[in-house]
Amino acid sequence: MKRLCLMLVAVVLTACGTPFTIEFSDDNTAVIRLAKAKEQTLWIPIDNLVGEVQLTVDGSQEITVPLNVRLAKERVQYWMPLYLTPATEQITIKGADKQFVAWQEFKVGENPNPEQKYRQTLHYTPHIGWANDPNGMVYHNGEWHLFHQYNPVGSRWGNMSWAHAVSRDLVTWEHLPTALYPDEIGAIFSGSCVIDKENTAGFGKDAMIAIYTSAGRKQSQSIAYSLDNGRTFTKYEKNPVLVSEQVDFRDPKVFWHEPTERWIMPLACGNAMEFYSSPNLREWHFESRFGEEYGCHGGVWECPDLIELPYKDGKKWVLFCSLTRDAEHGSSVQYFVGDFDGHTFVCDTPKEYTDFIGWGRDNYAIVTWSNVSDGRTIALGWQNNWQYGSEQEFPTTDFRSYMSLPYELKLIEHEGRAKLISKPVKEFSDYLQPIHTQESITVAAEQALPVELSGKDALWIECEMESKGAKVMGVKLSNDCGEALKIYFDNGEQAFKVDRREAGISDFHERFPSEISAPMSSAKSQTLTIVLDHASVECFTDISATSDLIFPTEGYTHLTLYTADGEAQVKRITVNKVVK
Ligand code: FRU
Repeated sequence: MKRLCLMLVAVVLTACGTPFTIEFSDDNTAVIRLAKAKEQTLWIPIDNLVGEVQLTVDGSQEITVPLNVRLAKERVQYWMPLYLTPATEQITIKGADKQFVAWQEFKVGENPNPEQKYRQTLHYTPHIGWANDPNGMVYHNGEWHLFHQYNPVGSRWGNMSWAHAVSRDLVTWEHLPTALYPDEIGAIFSGSCVIDKENTAGFGKDAMIAIYTSAGRKQSQSIAYSLDNGRTFTKYEKNPVLVSEQVDFRDPKVFWHEPTERWIMPLACGNAMEFYSSPNLREWHFESRFGEEYGCHGGVWECPDLIELPYKDGKKWVLFCSLTRDAEHGSSVQYFVGDFDGHTFVCDTPKEYTDFIGWGRDNYAIVTWSNVSDGRTIALGWQNNWQYGSEQEFPTTDFRSYMSLPYELKLIEHEGRAKLISKPVKEFSDYLQPIHTQESITVAAEQALPVELSGKDALWIECEMESKGAKVMGVKLSNDCGEALKIYFDNGEQAFKVDRREAGISDFHERFPSEISAPMSSAKSQTLTIVLDHASVECFTDISATSDLIFPTEGYTHLTLYTADGEAQVKRITVNKVVK
């Protein structure tokens, strides 16, 4: 009887390549069957503004639980790919009735999405889908691995998985298949990877081991290992390896602590960080908790990292705490400096004092690469902000979010305190081609630089300037649509500022238009590096770094030096274009 209810609504779609059929039963369940059993890509029509339906990939070894998909109801906004093999030639969708436009819009084969605006040159970008926190960053066998929070079937947050990419120089990235999909224990939230050189876990010498949060009914920590350079992972059959009654219990960032010869796991637990230890990554013991009385607490703490850096004649430990939703900044990353003996973090930073790793609006969940052997400490953040980044409307369509530039971190002494400084890694210099250099420019009011900008290149600008009475001195990038990005030192307020209010599209969320303010050094002469990519700007001064999204309608073609209330001298400016 049930079989009689089946109705064949879509049959052969020859124009799109391989044919498939869609069959409905009367309980809003549809089964899509591909006619030919071979590897192929099924493109799912999506609309970010509609609710979710459930999609199951029958027979898949990797996608073992249903995914939530915003299946196009009245209009198709873009398509998301589902990679199918002979074993997975059938998918089931529950919760969408026959009126959905989607049923006429499934496609097989080539990517049907038009080329997207706002793809970056220097910043890692997912090839499609939603990205948040960088995860599992590890250097291994000549490759920099970047995993990250990922929605494989949509460009809004959901179905948390780990995407995977590798690079040989931290600048050019190769996208690899999704490494970890949600499973019966939960979605795959943020975490880290280590190389198990001594085979402490028993999965194999030099196994790459991912330690991540399984986010199900509760949050718990799980592990998975790879014996083929991260190309495939096997989830440990006794997962989860660490459970708790705490609601927020996530984002393990594991490292080997040499003095006590154990693995240490800093973990975000509500308004604090906890530390766990383990001899083998499978059994974990609580060590201590830190943070309730320290720093900022607007929203829970997330994504810890605990690293040791050279400082003066010795070393200091630095604890990173991502702060979900501070009322003023939205998402930002604060840090504390202190000591760690394998058990307890003892903080030197005064309780009421807060310093941030980055001062822009778009640099969250910053964590470092593990297993780096050249002595550098290299970090990466998510270039977006929970305040507006996951909302329905966003200027990009089939992909969303970027990663920051990879930074090298150092501790310097500044005003009697240990201060964390970040600069882009040296590898970028291989991609820079100078197009204009000028020295000793006296600037009063506005001065356009005689440099031809294509509006299509990413730019890397370095300059040094000194106030000769100017209250404000800076650089303006603008286009012929009347949009301008202002980057300046406010000598009156002694602050470095980035004003993106008029820089481009900014009406998709009320919290997006903003002018940010960062610390400025008291030195007479200020150095400034501006890295302008197609959809973001990052700036580096002597003592601060900023990272902000911008969406200019057209690329900037004018570069102007400017001052307010007096003169400034630009001692030197070099404009490079990025050649990749
Ligand atoms: C931080 C975060 C993490 C969590 C992940 C989920 O941005 O909220 O705490 O693991 O994102 O995607």
